[in-house]
Amino acid sequence: MSQIKIGQVGLGRLGKVHAGNIVNHVKNAELYAVTSVVEEELVYAKESLGVEKCYTSYSEMIEDTDLDAVVIASPSGFHSVQITQALEKGLHVFSEKPIGLDLEDIQQVVENINDNQDKVLQLGFMRRFDESYQFAKESIQNGDLGKITTMRCYGIDPSTGLNSFINFAKSSASGGIFLDMSIHDIDLIRWFTGSEFKTVYSLGNNIAAPELSECDELETGACLAELEDGTIAYLLAGRNAQHGYHVETEIIGTEGMIRIGNAPEKNLVTLYDKNGVVRPTSSHFPERFKAAFINELNAFVNAINEKEASTVTGVDGLKSTEVAIAMQKSFEQKKIIKL
Ligand code: NAI
Repeated sequence: MSQIKIGQVGLGRLGKVHAGNIVNHVKNAELYAVTSVVEEELVYAKESLGVEKCYTSYSEMIEDTDLDAVVIASPSGFHSVQITQALEKGLHVFSEKPIGLDLEDIQQVVENINDNQDKVLQLGFMRRFDESYQFAKESIQNGDLGKITTMRCYGIDPSTGLNSFINFAKSSASGGIFLDMSIHDIDLIRWFTGSEFKTVYSLGNNIAAPELSECDELETGACLAELEDGTIAYLLAGRNAQHGYHVETEIIGTEGMIRIGNAPEKNLVTLYDKNGVVRPTSSHFPERFKAAFINELNAFVNAINEKEASTVTGVDGLKSTEVAIAMQKSFEQKKIIKL
């Protein structure tokens, strides 16, 4: 196995998680270079992670001919162009979701990916690498649920992060709640059912955070969808879970049903005190998906070393983005959108 030299762009909320994982947990990989536009993040990379090559420009970083791969954890609006630039330099690419914000750009990126079949391109749909989701997938493949009839997906960020999101939304575009958050559930629904979305109808409100209306963002976004195979899907994304980081998925089949994370439990502890019986909850995404973030990067590096294709492809990125954009359009136009 060769040691894969990785250059990472973005060392923010998620970038720090990936960078720490590459240094401490990912086998056969080295965090060789980083790019950030925030000085303190570069100091952190140098001093805490021991990265020698620290850049403020991504284009400069990928000029380094010793690099094998990039990890893209920059804001969503940069993903398409940074993927394309990396492929042009002959680099393997792991990119955070979404693959881009604009469908035409994404179609071009998918063409570039198709023209570079010898390169591994993996998208950051980390839930596919979570132990519980993998268990459910295996169960479904074994036929335990019979035929899937319905899926219900909740992805609600903790209310402790709401103010920082409001500040973020005032200065940058997230792509909207469906592209920023529901996209993980869209990917899970496609992954579990093996079917594509046919129609979507979305609603949203800002009852919990009226300030978000000023920046065209939603605190709560919900969607009722039908898939090509007839499966009904209900997706709810939010930014105001008072109890922690709530990611819950329900899959109902003709022979049974599965729930994953119906209470976002932190561990196996149950506390019995004057408040009643309390289960501590996981409080943010790095905690809930700690192992999945490590597993997805190990899978990326393995795919490079084994010269295998990634299991989360550019087409997954394109399809999920198409659905998320249709959901946003449905909300804005107050009508059912056909894909
Ligand atoms: P953030 O705002 O905390 O960090 C952004 C990083 O990008 C910073 O290090 C900044 O220096 C860097 N950056 C900004 N502009 C740049 C430029 N022009 N050139 C180079 N670097 C630049 O963002 P956060 O929350 O870490 O999100 C990053 C991406 O990760 C987003 O696309 C988001 O959708 C995705 N994400 C995925 C999650 C998941 O569950 N898989 C969870 C959180 C974020």
